[in-house]
Amino acid sequence: MIERFLAVRAATETLAEPLSAEDQQVQSMPACSPVKWHRAHTTWFFDAMILAPRGIESRRPGWGYLFNSYYEALGPRHPRPARGVLSRPGVDEVGAWRREVDADVVELLRRHPDDEDLRGLIELGLAHEEQHQELILTDVLHAFSLNPLDPIYRPAPRLPRASEARRSWAEHDGGLVEIGRRGPGFAFDNEGPRHKAWLEPFAIGDRLVTIGEWTAFAEDGGYERPELWLSEGWDWARREGIRAPMHLRRDHGHLSVFTLHGRREPDPAEPVSHLSYYEADALARYLGARLPTEAEWEVWAEGRPVDGPLRGDALIPRPTASPFGSVWQWTASPYAPYPGYRPAAGAIGEYNGKFMVNQLVLRGGSCLTPPGHVRASYRNFWPADTRFQATGLRLARDRA
Ligand SMILES: [Fe+2]
Repeated sequence: MIERFLAVRAATETLAEPLSAEDQQVQSMPACSPVKWHRAHTTWFFDAMILAPRGIESRRPGWGYLFNSYYEALGPRHPRPARGVLSRPGVDEVGAWRREVDADVVELLRRHPDDEDLRGLIELGLAHEEQHQELILTDVLHAFSLNPLDPIYRPAPRLPRASEARRSWAEHDGGLVEIGRRGPGFAFDNEGPRHKAWLEPFAIGDRLVTIGEWTAFAEDGGYERPELWLSEGWDWARREGIRAPMHLRRDHGHLSVFTLHGRREPDPAEPVSHLSYYEADALARYLGARLPTEAEWEVWAEGRPVDGPLRGDALIPRPTASPFGSVWQWTASPYAPYPGYRPAAGAIGEYNGKFMVNQLVLRGGSCLTPPGHVRASYRNFWPADTRFQATGLRLARDRA
């Protein structure tokens, strides 16, 4: 456990390494946070949720106000859209705090090796830290995308050209199925309880929707055809002037995409990414299909290896035959509690439960997701207009 704790904590610092103090300070929009804030907030989580309740006083009293994200039970906090103004504490002070809290947590684990509650909370803290590792990358990508110099976070690895794969359809007879967390190992509370669901016969595509398919949609007037769109999405696209996924640019028919490896020309066979739910829904309709529900996705994915490509050398979506990896997949399912779901008592109960309104579930994982972080029952969730995450889609359809 100590080894795993230190490895996950170190992985966060490795992600921050290519970034200067100025890079780590930027907050490019209210939904994004500075990298320095992510490094401090994940530390605060261990400080406030694990050390303080066990009588270990915070070494930085007052910082809880800065780095509490949304936990009402733990008091008031600095407003989220203003995280970028916190020039102090600086990156070095945040780094020092990380090391101190790490030492305190390790000491606690040494003293209480059999404390199951402690281990459960540390598992949660590590899963939380991994979620923020992905956010560090999406937030840096967004901040860098606004810089006309097209900064490079990490040089591109050598990548073979992606080749267009035919879409095969996995068929399912439907009927009474079970979904939700099962077996040992960590899962977030929102993945359970395991429960029954009824499915009509369906088919699900074995590969992700590609940039080539999105290009056909765009060139066929996809963004100007109201019959393809949900009303709310149509209004949103007009209001925001949306003509392409975030980070994708079309200049006189020439496509370029901004990535953590800088600006590049994408292969048409690469999965399309950084789409809102509205765009994913319209694109699926254009392709004669629909988005899967989360139950359809899960019964199809369960039991299959979680083999990505989740985050590796390449920080861009690559074609994959795996249900997991490359891009998060929008589902048609609203983010709601499963039957019998009860949030935990206390501050920890605020982790997931209170966000179960006006968001959609995404399944799988992305090229920015830490390896080992996801599983078939994993439920990611974002509002319908979210595009700064690595979000894409796979198709599903009803069987006659
Ligand atoms: Fe958090």
